[in-house]
Amino acid sequence: MLRVSGLTVGYGEDPVIEGIDLEIAAGEFVSLVGPSGSGKTSILRVVTELLVPLAGVVELDAPVRDVGFLFQDDALLPWRTVRENVALGLRIREVPAAAIDEQVEHWLARLGLAGYEGRYPGQLSGGQRKRVAIAQVLALKPRLLLMDEPFASLDAIVRTRITQELLEWVEREHLTVLLVTHDLEEAISASDAVYVLSHGPRATIQARHVVDIPRPRRLLESRRHPTFGPLVQQLWTELSTEPPRR
Ligand SMILES: Nc1ncnc2c1ncn2[C@@H]1O[C@H](COP(=O)(O)OP(=O)(O)O)[C@@H](O)[C@H]1O
Ligand SMILES: [Mg+2]
Repeated sequence: MLRVSGLTVGYGEDPVIEGIDLEIAAGEFVSLVGPSGSGKTSILRVVTELLVPLAGVVELDAPVRDVGFLFQDDALLPWRTVRENVALGLRIREVPAAAIDEQVEHWLARLGLAGYEGRYPGQLSGGQRKRVAIAQVLALKPRLLLMDEPFASLDAIVRTRITQELLEWVEREHLTVLLVTHDLEEAISASDAVYVLSHGPRATIQARHVVDIPRPRRLLESRRHPTFGPLVQQLWTELSTEPPRR
């Protein structure tokens, strides 16, 4: 679904990341972990064509409009109701009004937001707002879902619950996902493969690990799988390696 080859990205002359290769097959769940400031968000910006790379190629097996994004800070419009926020993307695509209503009801019900349609984002909890943002993205039926530390602002219980629900949805619909996170356990328990970005500047992919835990997965059970602990340890070691002096 996505192949990134030899990607070098920078905001001036000095590359932030250099020579990144990364691949995601259709239906695969891939995570990208790395130190803060190593260039994870920059990679997503290139994939979504918000940023032109210094070098490298991005091949995407879907039109960019079929790529969905979920960011750390949700992009809900505070002056629009929950219903209007979820409808927004569909409206931009000129989906007929009756179909929009049906889709919005469907997604809000699925995400446990039935009854909240008329509320404004400021009248919701953090977890509820995140669900609205998820409804907004999934209603557009993305072929590739990009997530940039989407659950970082949620408390541990809500975070685990929402991640589990999203994981079930991804597995059922065979969605293709690229998750950027600094949470190693979240990355391992949800992914088929985890890429590790080294410290910047000039960050590179320093490892790719295949996660051999059977699906369907339950997040908390995945953590008890015999391969889980050693993999956390290994990622931790890789991420704690001192950056080379240049
Ligand atoms: N718009 C920008 N202009 C200049 N430098 C930027 C910009 N965005 C990010 N950077 C720099 O690029 C590096 C990588 O940033 P980013 O991709 O956001 O890292 P991460 O998401 O891994 O934390 C950082 O050093 C950051 O300061
Ligand atoms: Mg980032």
